[in-house]
Amino acid sequence: MLVAPSILSADFANLGQEVEDICKAGADLVHVDVMDGRFVPNMTIGPLVVEAVSKTASVPLDIHLMVEDNSFFVDLFAPLRPKFITFHYESEDHHHRIAQKIRDYGVSPGIVINPATPVSFLGEIVKYVDMVLVMSVNPGFGGQRFIPVFDKIRELKELIETKNPDCLIEVDGGVNDSNVKALKESGVDIVVAGSYVFGKKDRAEAISSLKV
Ligand code: DX5
Ligand code: ZN
Repeated sequence: MLVAPSILSADFANLGQEVEDICKAGADLVHVDVMDGRFVPNMTIGPLVVEAVSKTASVPLDIHLMVEDNSFFVDLFAPLRPKFITFHYESEDHHHRIAQKIRDYGVSPGIVINPATPVSFLGEIVKYVDMVLVMSVNPGFGGQRFIPVFDKIRELKELIETKNPDCLIEVDGGVNDSNVKALKESGVDIVVAGSYVFGKKDRAEAISSLKV
């Protein structure tokens, strides 16, 4: 399992230190949650802070857009050369256009579905993305309770196997050492974990407990 700690739960007064800490502790990616206060009822960080994070991080960034205007935010963040930019199915009419726009910047596109969005909606777009992110909480905040999404992940795994076998599956929200094994067994490649990793003093121990 690859582990992407979400800096949403980091101490923002010591952000540089926190990013260094998780990279040294074995993070595979640094997950960056971008919220616009419209698609979700919370706001986070913009390109100045994300640029500083990208300079400090020794592993690639995984940028999760939770915004209404995906095109505008892709233009802000893609020049920072993250590994992934993911955007929400629910916030976009032109999924293929946004995926292509991200790819044209040399960044891997991914699509995100909320807990109540069916996997069947991804039937076409799955061919054009490198990752599907399945939300296991409603987006907007860290520290929420995990919503069981195992059936969706199994269904998604089947879809991916027939339409785009190289596409990765990521899960975000409420991930911890008690659900990560079942996530792995249902077909997940990458877990995002915010409060679980940053809530532990020993981040190396926290991250390694998720590497099942
Ligand atoms: C929620 C964010 C998550 C969040 C996860 O909208 O997308 O990345 O940071 O936090 P935890 O792991 O605490 O649920
Ligand atoms: Zn996220």
